[in-house]
This record gives sequence, structure tokens and C-alpha cells, in this order.
Amino acid sequence: MKKFSVTIAGGGSTFTPGIILMLLDNLDRFPIRKLKLYDNDKERQAIVAGACEVVLKEKAPDIEFCATTDTKEAFTDIDFVMAHIRVGKYAMRELDEKIPLEYNVLGQETCGPGGISYGMRSIGGVIEILDYMEKYSPSAWMLNYSNPAAIVAEATRKLRPNSKILNICDMPIGIEVRMAEILGLKSRKEMKTRYYGLNHFGWWTDIRDNDGNDLMPKLKEHVAKHGYIMDKGGTQETEASWYDTFSKAKDVYALDPDTLPNTYLKYYLFQDYVVKHSDKKYTRANEVIDGREKFVFGECRKVIKQQSTKGCALKVDDHASYIVDLATAIAYNSQARMFLIVENNGAIENFDSTAMVEIPCIVGSNGPEPLVVGKIPQFQKGLMEQQVSVEKLVVEAWAEKSYLKLWQAITLSKTVPSASVAKNILDDLIKVNKEYWPQLK
Ligand code: NAD
Ligand code: G6P
Ligand code: MN
Repeated sequence: MKKFSVTIAGGGSTFTPGIILMLLDNLDRFPIRKLKLYDNDKERQAIVAGACEVVLKEKAPDIEFCATTDTKEAFTDIDFVMAHIRVGKYAMRELDEKIPLEYNVLGQETCGPGGISYGMRSIGGVIEILDYMEKYSPSAWMLNYSNPAAIVAEATRKLRPNSKILNICDMPIGIEVRMAEILGLKSRKEMKTRYYGLNHFGWWTDIRDNDGNDLMPKLKEHVAKHGYIMDKGGTQETEASWYDTFSKAKDVYALDPDTLPNTYLKYYLFQDYVVKHSDKKYTRANEVIDGREKFVFGECRKVIKQQSTKGCALKVDDHASYIVDLATAIAYNSQARMFLIVENNGAIENFDSTAMVEIPCIVGSNGPEPLVVGKIPQFQKGLMEQQVSVEKLVVEAWAEKSYLKLWQAITLSKTVPSASVAKNILDDLIKVNKEYWPQLK
């Protein structure tokens, strides 16, 4: 069996240890000969890498391992890049979230002005990695889940149309895990689902078990009452902010009882509620800094110090195994069915054929073959046209260094009340993003 060489870009990410443990758990179906970490922050990556080295020595000493900030070393002789970079790190996420809130506009990592701001930083970072990959390993594939995935996907479609990059998101998977639990199934893979939309902006239209029985009625009954929260306990412990998001899905659902919604729609459909329930001084970025980041880096330091994983609380990121599903689909031409962010190209009949949409695809060695969705209703079409225009304008603004287009993008976002508020937010964002955005004219 062929063994693969993989580079994780954003090696210093809080998700890297969990993903490496997951890869080690999946070696029987995705054998690895070489694993490299790449990041542009040497010190941050060194902590994660130091711990991963110990993990690999214990669990898979045959895998060649290195961590580097050198692009030639990182991208030579590889089959896959798994990319999860965060340009500007949590310090900039915090500003993305807090600046809009000063104007009573929601502050979110990927939605509204915060997501637009993050997009303007991410486009260059992701394209740079894609270019290095193509330079040093022209036949490799990049599996990207760096956010904001919608804007990054539109940027690579427009600026690197022939590149082997696949953009993917774990939110539909996370929600399907909850659906399976609500239904009492062992795994989300016991469901066959149909879904369409944009990234962080979509709806399920059909959910069946493997015998073809319709599971939507039971799910709808639950979601109408509890959102995606389990009524009797359940194993889905989560932080308060995520609990609220999963619970709020019941109100999002009420707007279209024919479908089941992605939780991210709450930011567009209930923006006033979101602002009211935000703490302007302590946003999700602060929660993550005090929670996940502290925990992961604390555990990594422990492992390095004792040169052993004994008593280490870092866990396998099981739900990230969708990344292996995607890599094996390409490597072994498995024709797996999965949701990817791809060019519409007629799949949604009554929607912009150049839009990047999140829909089911069959994935094989040549990449994804999108499945036909057909016509979508006016409500979704209207929302999606507005949102996709925001995403396209951001990419145009980045490519043309256009202040005007970025102002239009923020103004068009459903989360923003007026062009004057949009301008205030934009001008504040420009000030703090000097190091990361192109200089706008
Ligand atoms: P993090 O800040 O802990 O890690 C990101 C790493 O990227 C940092 O170590 C940083 O130094 C590095 N980095 C920044 N710019 C870089 C560049 N230009 N080149 C190389 N490395 C660079 O962030 P995190 O919370 O672990 O999240 C990582 C990313 O994964 C984010 O983009 C997040 O939104 C994304 N994510 C996506 C999904 C999805 O569904 N698509 C799910 C989870 C996380
Ligand atoms: C989900 C989304 C990701 C997003 C993440 C945010 O997994 O699909 O796109 O990055 O949530 O999580 P965080 O814990 O960083 O707020
Ligand atoms: Mn996502």
C-alpha cells in the first residue's frame, strides 16, 4: 500500500495535536510515511511540534517528522497539504469581533464585517501556501479548512482556477453528528443527506436512513422544540456560546419548516438578538484564548517537559476524520459522497453559475463531481444572492485593492444596517489591519 507524505500548514494551530492523533488512529486506511508541520510563527509551532514529536515517537516511530518555517523544506515531496492557518492569529480575531460590536453590529469570526476582515487577511496567506505547494510538489492536493472558507474558496476559484485545492467545512458534519444522536443512530454515516447553500449558510432538504426511510419528520419535531440540543442529556457537552447557537437553531428553523438549517444562519437572521447577547469586552476570541489555546499549549508543554504523553489530556479529534475521508477519496478514487465548497456550475439551477456553493459531491482521483440540486426557493435564493455578492466583492476588493468595493461588501452584508455604519467599521478595520491587508485605494 502506498504511504503518503503530508504537510500540515498552520502547524502551530490549536487543532494540530488533535488532528495528528486522528491521523495516527486512521493509519490503516491512510498510511503516512512523512509528516511535516509548517507555520510562519516559529516559536508557536515549536511548542506544538515538540509535543507531536513525542507522540509520534511513542505511537508511530516509523513516520518521518519535522517542523519547519522553510517553505522549500515544507512543500517538497508531499502528496497532501492540510491547511488550517489563521492569519493574524487570535489577536486579530479579537479585533474582528470587537470593532463591529462598537457599532452594535455582530462580531463573528466568519460572518459579517469580522468575517470580511478575516477574509482580507486569509486570501493572501492561503494563496501563498498553494503557490509553494505547486512549486515544490506540483501533483499534490491542498485540503483547506482555513477560514473564512467561503471567501477563501471564491478567491482561489477566481485567482487560481486550475489549482488542486478543495475547500471544506466541519459545521455540517458537526450538526449531522447531533442529528444522528437525536435519532438514536450510532453514526452520522447511517444517514444519507441532501444539503445546499454557501459555506456557513445552508439548509438540509432531505435526510434518510440507509433503507431510504425519511428521517426529516422526527428531526423537525425535535429541532422545532430544542434546536440541535439533546433534550435528555446526551454526550454533546459544549461551551455556553455554542450551546446558545445550537439552541437558537429552533428559531432559524421556524423561518422555513421545509428544511433544517445550518446554525450559522442565526447571525444573518437574528443579528439583533446576537448583538444583544454579546459581551462587547469578552467575545468568542477571548473564550478560545482562555479555553482551547491555554489547554492545548499547556498540555503540549507538559508532554515536552516529561518527554512522554503519560497523563496527557490531548484527545483524538475524531470528527476531523472527514479530512481523512477526503484524502482517501482522492488517493484511492473511492467516489465518496461529501459536502464540499465548489463552483456552482449549474448544480443549483436558478443561481449564479460562478458562485462557490456548499453541496454534496462525489469525490475521486480527479477531484469533486458536484451533484445536481435543482431549483431552490425564493427565500434561500434571495439570501444567498446577497451573501454571495458580499463574498465576491471582498475578493474583488482584495485583488483590485479597492476601498469602494470593500465598503460595498460590508454595506451589502445583511448584518450591517447602513452604508454609514459600514464605513465607520471599515475605517476602523483598515487601521488595525495595516500589516495584513493590501493598501486600499
Ligand atoms: P490558531 O491561531 O491556533 O492556529 C493558526 C496557525 O496558523 C498559527 O499557528 C499561526 O501562526 C499560523 N499562521 C498564520 N498565518 C500563517 C501563514 N501565512 N502561513 C503559515 N502559517 C500561518 O487557530 P485555530 O483556532 O487553531 O484555527 C486554525 C484555522 O482553522 C482557522 O482558520 C479556523 O477558522 C479554521 N477552522 C476551520 C474549520 C472549518 O470548518 N473549515 C474548523 C475549525 C477550524
Ligand atoms: C466550526 C466551524 C468553523 C469555525 C469553528 C469556530 O467548527 O465550522 O469554521 O472555525 O466552528 O470554532 P471556535 O471554537 O474557534 O469558535
Ligand atoms: Mn466552517
